[in-house]
Amino acid sequence: MEKRTPLIAGNWKMHKTCAEAVDAAKTLVHLVSAVTERDIMIAPVFTALYPVSAILDGTQIHLGAQNIHWEDEGAFTGEVSGKMLISAGCRYVIIGHSERRQFFHESDQWVNLKIRAAVKSNLIPVMCIGETETEYEQKNTLSVLDKQIKKGLEGSFSDSLANLVIAYEPVWAIGTGKTAKSAQAQEVHHYIRSLIEKLFGNVLAKSIRIIYGGSVKPENISELMNQPDIDGVLVGGASLIPETFSRIVLYQ
Ligand code: PGA
Repeated sequence: MEKRTPLIAGNWKMHKTCAEAVDAAKTLVHLVSAVTERDIMIAPVFTALYPVSAILDGTQIHLGAQNIHWEDEGAFTGEVSGKMLISAGCRYVIIGHSERRQFFHESDQWVNLKIRAAVKSNLIPVMCIGETETEYEQKNTLSVLDKQIKKGLEGSFSDSLANLVIAYEPVWAIGTGKTAKSAQAQEVHHYIRSLIEKLFGNVLAKSIRIIYGGSVKPENISELMNQPDIDGVLVGGASLIPETFSRIVLYQ
């Protein structure tokens, strides 16, 4: 099997002032300094990106943003572009998180524009997909993911997606303490990989990282990472405390 470097990512959502973010980043740098062969990313709020980038500089922790606008600049009050994220020290950007889809009405078409903008800016897009509780109960998970992937990546070519990360996050598992059973998550990840193969070919399907999100914690990380198609995790609540997040990063 192709070896994919695991990605352990922390989404800080709308938490932490600049000073709190800098403090947490400093502690985390210290706690994970011995880690090798794992990619680590944290995504603070926009205002904390630049100060946190100074702390992460020269360490193995990458900086990510939680959103991006698809234009480079212009009259788009409240938005931030890829070139601005790069200038603040970002390497990754989270796109289409379920909270953005749910509370800010982001469509698959916007997700598509944002992924293109990220690729153009040389940022690694982390495209979030996932079904709601109702869709899950109605057994529509795979058809929902199918649509989100096809529309989100419409018009793309496999070489432009070489760095793409897909984060499968069942909405019913986010912040709820409920996690998909690892075997259940594996089944979905396997489905996503086969769909990528069908759409973009075998090479991308083998190398693409498909990470899992939704109530990931130190207690369930090893079981999730033992699944062949789970290549990492996107962590919300448990990434806010550096000691807890470092235990996830350091899973055995
Ligand atoms: P959670 O959030 O770990 O708090 O469930 C995950 C996410 O929203 O990315």
